[in-house]
Amino acid sequence: MLIREFNPSDLARVYQIEVESFSNPYEVAILQQLYDIGAGFLVATEDGDVVGYIIFWMKEENLGHIIALAIDRKYRGQHIATRLLMMAVTIFRNMGVPKITLEVKSQNTVAVSFYKKFGFEIDRKVPNYYEDGSDAYVMFFKTDSIKT
Ligand SMILES: CC(C)(COP(=O)(O)OP(=O)(O)OC[C@H]1O[C@@H](n2cnc3c(N)ncnc32)[C@H](O)[C@@H]1OP(=O)(O)O)[C@@H](O)C(=O)NCCC(=O)NCCS
Repeated sequence: MLIREFNPSDLARVYQIEVESFSNPYEVAILQQLYDIGAGFLVATEDGDVVGYIIFWMKEENLGHIIALAIDRKYRGQHIATRLLMMAVTIFRNMGVPKITLEVKSQNTVAVSFYKKFGFEIDRKVPNYYEDGSDAYVMFFKTDSIKT
């Protein structure tokens, strides 16, 4: 498995994984826009095929934000998301960013378990956060808790 920067020829494949992974996926134009504005955008590949991605940016000064993270179903459970997230966290840490946040559907028990295992902590629940009326957990991670 390799991790590299996203390039626009990956867009269709990233969008496919996004649609398969989320009930309220980002539009393809939004994914393109995130790249255009310079958000962090990494893909994981297996034999040259994109199998997962992570998108992240600075939400505000001193606060990084994980916007999206998803892995093709066939490749889950192989620690690919852990490696993508570790790369993003390392980039933030090297930029001197002390804290990272994200929102995740509170009912997405797999993702909540994943982020907790990585070291994110739940800060609060936000009712009705998503368009479909579901709630979000806001989670935080301190970048000095990794030692790479
Ligand atoms: C959440 C997601 C990104 C995890 O990707 P992954 O590559 O399968 O995760 P990893 O293999 O790195 O998992 C690391 C740890 O997370 C936890 N975890 C992962 N999948 C899990 C599952 N199905 N059930 C419970 N815990 C799980 C485990 O603790 C695991 O460690 P272990 O394998 O040593 O037990 C993936 O399931 C996915 O793409 N889901 C759909 C999109 C999504 O929900 N994204 C996150 C919200 S933004």
